[in-house]
Amino acid sequence: MRRGEESFYVDPLTLEPLTLAEEEIREGNEVVSGVLASPSGHRFAIRQGVPDLVYPFELPAIDRQALQQYEERADAYDRYLPLTFSTYGEDEQTVRNAMVDKLELRPGAIVLETGAGTGRDSEIIARRLGAEGRLYIQDLAPSFLAKNIERLRGVATRVEPALANGYYLPFAENSFDACFHFGGINAFGDIRRAFAEMARVTKPGGKVVVGDESMPPWLRDTEFGRILMNSNPEFVYPLPLEKLPVEARKTRLEWIIGGVFYVIDFVVGVGEPPADLDFPIPGMRGGTHRTRYYGQLEGVTPEAKRLAAAARAATGKSMHQWLDDVVREAARRDLGHGD
Ligand SMILES: C[S@@+](CC[C@H](N)C(=O)[O-])C[C@H]1O[C@@H](n2cnc3c(N)ncnc32)[C@H](O)[C@@H]1O
Repeated sequence: MRRGEESFYVDPLTLEPLTLAEEEIREGNEVVSGVLASPSGHRFAIRQGVPDLVYPFELPAIDRQALQQYEERADAYDRYLPLTFSTYGEDEQTVRNAMVDKLELRPGAIVLETGAGTGRDSEIIARRLGAEGRLYIQDLAPSFLAKNIERLRGVATRVEPALANGYYLPFAENSFDACFHFGGINAFGDIRRAFAEMARVTKPGGKVVVGDESMPPWLRDTEFGRILMNSNPEFVYPLPLEKLPVEARKTRLEWIIGGVFYVIDFVVGVGEPPADLDFPIPGMRGGTHRTRYYGQLEGVTPEAKRLAAAARAATGKSMHQWLDDVVREAARRDLGHGD
């Protein structure tokens, strides 16, 4: 970890700033070992220059299992991964470059990649960022991250690796120009939180791009779908659309790699989408979107409803205006508030 970099990280639970505490050993500008501490007393070790910011300290069973599986597969991963693409006659570099295109990067950008694995996308992203850019590569599995660090050694871009959980990101909000994840999110212990975290740490207007396996619904009951889902249960994972954050704007979904992986990309907005919910809606019903939602009263008898419709028509008002006037007048009378 580069000296001074500690100020960019935060406690992944409390989001408090971290400071370097104890035992830091510096080689030139590198902190090769030490401890990052937060005011709450959480401590995160730095080993061989890599901060371990994984939270929760005791991972849920699903993440412990994933971590163990990935750690066992680290050596074979790069050997067999090309099959994921060649099965469908796809060129891995073309596919990965197209995914990275969706980040709409410019040189000099600051980018986070979670679940970065052995760096097959990281090296493409790093190339796009140039010497002025910064790429934060994170993974839960130390042996995957080690291979990634090795792969990216020598790239012009400044690369900052850390062990971290993709759904507890150790960064303040609005830290990144863009955020990328491919291949692991389906099995994260909290997918909704992972999306929310990516939106939180990405600046408004920045892109989030996320992909993973999911057999599309229209292929699940085909021979193609059944054979693949039987071989690889990862294809059974549902599309996580309902887990996207409310900040997602201009959201797009594409099916890639033989049409059995999804890629979702969106622009990060602020809060819920903006809309004018208060303009008077022309027409017989009238009111506004907001009064229609918040202004509902108990139902009336069919006879009272028929009379109200006739009276409204006679006055030429919208139903909203007629009701509002009638209710106010009756309320004032019954509350004894004379005009
Ligand atoms: C299938 S690999 C994909 C790696 C890389 N993105 C690629 O496309 O080759 C999934 C990666 O997600 C990581 N991972 C799994 N669960 C994670 C979590 N909760 N937080 C961060 N990374 C996680 C794994 O260690 C592994 O490196």
